Amino acid sequence: MPSLEGKTAIVTGASKGLGQAIARRLAAGGARVVAGARSTDKLEALAQEAPNQIIPFTCDVTKSAQVKAMIEFTVEQCGRLDLLINNAGLAHFAQVQDLTEEEWDEMMDVNLKGAFLTCKYAIPYLKQTEGHIVNISSVAGTEAFANGSGYCASKFGLMALSDALTLELKPHHVKVTTLCPGSIKTEFHNPKDYAMEAEQVAETVWTCVSAPKGVIYNQIIMRPLVPKKAQKS
Ligand SMILES: NC(=O)c1ccc[n+]([C@@H]2O[C@H](COP(=O)([O-])OP(=O)(O)OC[C@H]3O[C@@H](n4cnc5c(N)ncnc54)[C@H](OP(=O)(O)O)[C@@H]3O)[C@@H](O)[C@H]2O)c1
Repeated sequence: MPSLEGKTAIVTGASKGLGQAIARRLAAGGARVVAGARSTDKLEALAQEAPNQIIPFTCDVTKSAQVKAMIEFTVEQCGRLDLLINNAGLAHFAQVQDLTEEEWDEMMDVNLKGAFLTCKYAIPYLKQTEGHIVNISSVAGTEAFANGSGYCASKFGLMALSDALTLELKPHHVKVTTLCPGSIKTEFHNPKDYAMEAEQVAETVWTCVSAPKGVIYNQIIMRPLVPKKAQKS
């Protein structure tokens, strides 16, 4: 079984949901994981599950100084940075005329600018380790839908950021993966009862980051299998 023993990961948005499941999976695979989010109490509870292996760090990904501090803390504590998982994200769903400017800005700041900031500060260290960036986008980053203007725009933007990163980092052997899940059972947004488990999506992240050295999973779309009776004709 492949192992991430000796490697260090940062997972943003690790206080609950998919980020928490990814942090657990990478730690189970041997990585030291710096778990970032704003909810310090939830991060500390997660870290209790694997002391010294999951390390909490309070960080709002929209705040440049906090992101820089998280990256520097990771390298100081663990000596290296191999994996950056940009998972922090949120959504506000409404028609354009009803979406507030604050809601639009929040989605752009967390879902898109947050990933830009983590990459900006992490890339010098990822180049040293021939590391890997995994951006958690969404099916909403591949197709737009009504009520999803701001969310889809932020995730389409993340797809573009990922494509540019892929090209910029190829010469440095830093891998970039964009994972586009459909509905997941988290607190994110009223999931359907057939939605995927966070652990199933986290397993796909594990598959990507434990791929052979010469293989890159560049873009992945994964969706729940919709029961026949729930399918639209
Ligand atoms: N659930 C789905 O159906 C679904 C489908 C496709 C893609 N996704 C994507 O998957 C990712 C995780 O979503 P989820 O379902 O796990 O949602 P969730 O359960 O609501 O968790 C969201 C995470 O993002 C963190 N976060 C929000 N704002 C933040 C900020 N400013 N700085 C740092 N962390 C922040 C939250 O932590 P704090 O509040 O503690 O900061 C929390 O840990 C998101 O990018 C989402 O777009 C989800």
